[in-house]
Amino acid sequence: MLWPGLPSEEALMRPGPDPSTVPWPLLKAGMALGRFLELLPNWMLPAGPQLLQLAAVAQFKAQTIKALAVLGIADMLGSGPKSSQELADVSAYSAPGLYRLLRLSTASGVFAVDGPVKGFETRFRNNKLSIHLRTDHPESVRHLLMTFANDCDSAWTKLAEGVKTGEEPFQLEHGTDFWKYIKDRPENEKIFSHAMAYQEKSSRLTHIKEYRWDQYDRVVDIGGAYGSFLASLMTAFPQLNGTLFDMPQVIENAKVLWKDEHANLAGRVDLVGGDFFDSTTIPRDTEGKTVYIMRSILHDWNDESSVSILKALASALKGTQSKLIINELVIEDVFPGEMTVKLGMDVHMLAICSGKERTKHEWEALLSQGGFRLNQIYAAKGLQSMIESEVAHKP
Ligand SMILES: C[S@@+](CC[C@H](N)C(=O)[O-])C[C@H]1O[C@@H](n2cnc3c(N)ncnc32)[C@H](O)[C@@H]1O
Repeated sequence: MLWPGLPSEEALMRPGPDPSTVPWPLLKAGMALGRFLELLPNWMLPAGPQLLQLAAVAQFKAQTIKALAVLGIADMLGSGPKSSQELADVSAYSAPGLYRLLRLSTASGVFAVDGPVKGFETRFRNNKLSIHLRTDHPESVRHLLMTFANDCDSAWTKLAEGVKTGEEPFQLEHGTDFWKYIKDRPENEKIFSHAMAYQEKSSRLTHIKEYRWDQYDRVVDIGGAYGSFLASLMTAFPQLNGTLFDMPQVIENAKVLWKDEHANLAGRVDLVGGDFFDSTTIPRDTEGKTVYIMRSILHDWNDESSVSILKALASALKGTQSKLIINELVIEDVFPGEMTVKLGMDVHMLAICSGKERTKHEWEALLSQGGFRLNQIYAAKGLQSMIESEVAHKP
């Protein structure tokens, strides 16, 4: 029997409300309240235990939720509530291990107990949060958490050493960079590309609604992974033709996906493999009004590499009126009060790829060094802004 008030699995599987419909002032007030609540325990609890909550307990909880994501427990609960023994029976995992992970996770608000608590016979079910660990949820974060768990987390163990020596923590851990590492692991690479599709989905609606895409007839998505944003954009704006550009092995997988999922757009799209450091492989602008987009690309790279990518792009756009839209975080110069998710992403980039999140001034300087002029920053609802620029033509 379900606890009264817990929605059914079917109801939980529905996508949430479109964030772009929430009025700005309400969204801002919600974000400010979130920041206040995040800091509230600092004023209420003794400092030592509070610090341990932040530095140790938060990690215990995070690792547990990610392990449950890797193990696919939310998927297994899709057919109905189960005890850890029942889960072990269908998976051959350790029942006591599952019980202990689910106990901590449920106490953290992810998963719920269904019926009485009876030790190993306690049955667990999905709740509002754990449902997003289901692979088939329209807003699933499972792939993203799997990428963190499988490919990123070990690099964090080298964070202090990396800061001490100035070397990249990921390199210290794996002896190679993230992109070569993922290229050598096709299964992980697929999970990563699906994870990127989720990230894209979470900002898609606001980015589609809050920019005048109707002024263009072609869009080129640089480093567009499997192209889910491109497909959404082309669906919303039937006048747009599209080019998806990414590494050759990503494009090979994207071809299969586009055949299956976006067959109706096939006549309007080119899928092109290449290297965004090599301007000769970047799709050239053709006649007409073209917009290039780069979503969550430059934060993966340090300033030197980012300038190289921008210069290669600038050479493809030379002599045209094309615009470049960069979707990235823009962090405040004055950081007390800044959202910790943005500053957390910045340290994540430091650990994984020597990348960084940037302030408005840093974006302006980077674009200028790469041969672009910043036009405007659209602070779209949600985390990522849209930074519009164009090639700075020399007089
Ligand atoms: C963080 S993901 C962003 C994906 C997508 N734009 C999004 O927002 O979901 C970075 C993308 O850059 C691609 N990439 C990395 N190095 C590349 C290179 N040298 N040339 C082309 N694409 C590259 C990766 O394959 C990946 O799809």
